[in-house]
Amino acid sequence: MTILDARAISKRYGGLAALTDVDVSVAPGQFVAIIGPNGAGKSTLLNVLTGLVVPDRGSVTLGGQEITRMATNRRVRAGLGRTFQHGRTFRRLTVLENVMVGAALESKANERDLREKSLQVLDQLGLADIAHESIGKLSYGHRRMVELARSVACEPKVLLLDEPAAGLNSAEVDLLVERLSHLREQHQLAVVLIEHNMGMVMRLAERIFVLNFGQKIAEGTPVEIQSDPAVLSAYLGEGYVHARL
Ligand SMILES: Nc1ncnc2c1ncn2[C@@H]1O[C@H](COP(=O)(O)OP(=O)(O)O)[C@@H](O)[C@H]1O
Ligand SMILES: [Mg+2]
Repeated sequence: MTILDARAISKRYGGLAALTDVDVSVAPGQFVAIIGPNGAGKSTLLNVLTGLVVPDRGSVTLGGQEITRMATNRRVRAGLGRTFQHGRTFRRLTVLENVMVGAALESKANERDLREKSLQVLDQLGLADIAHESIGKLSYGHRRMVELARSVACEPKVLLLDEPAAGLNSAEVDLLVERLSHLREQHQLAVVLIEHNMGMVMRLAERIFVLNFGQKIAEGTPVEIQSDPAVLSAYLGEGYVHARL
């Protein structure tokens, strides 16, 4: 049983094979991570999942429905939520208003229900205290957490996270890990995480897919991936040491 399934995905840019015959599948409620050295094809794959990139070959299904060529905004409505690597928030609005705007994009609910839903998610993320602050005054870490709240308030079946820990300090990363785990339990969310922070990946992911030069070179549990020779050599080539994996 899968909620999100990418099959035999290939994408070329001129002479460069950004993705070759890549399969990734996610079960309902499962937490998976996609890792790999720079240039491995992670962002391209994520863009294929969100609909920003149409693959040359292969197919993507969400809950059994073929979405390979479906527009990005329709995918969001079909239950594919995401946050952006460089997040967008409305600086003049409050935290609550920002979350409500996100939720309103995907929902036909009335304002009162949207407000309730948004407050609930903010509370689950430990942001209830700052719900009425203007977002422009918040720290970078807090703003990223608000973006996460906004995506979750849309009630996705699968949440795609593109480097949510980028730019966070280690205390903020710990908090993010804790809150993501909590959110997942509360919302039965499947999550696809693309992340450079290996500590975070190893703590959260049940299953890890490893890309290198556009191909999937390994797939397994964190324990399996940490001792996989092909993975170690891919990262060693980039100057990583074993301890970082
Ligand atoms: N729009 C594009 N045009 C040309 N080449 C691209 C484009 N997007 C990505 N690439 C190339 O495809 C490869 C994979 O890139 P990317 O998916 O961004 O890797 P990652 O996110 O793992 O660092 C890289 O060699 C990159 O330069
Ligand atoms: Mg990338």
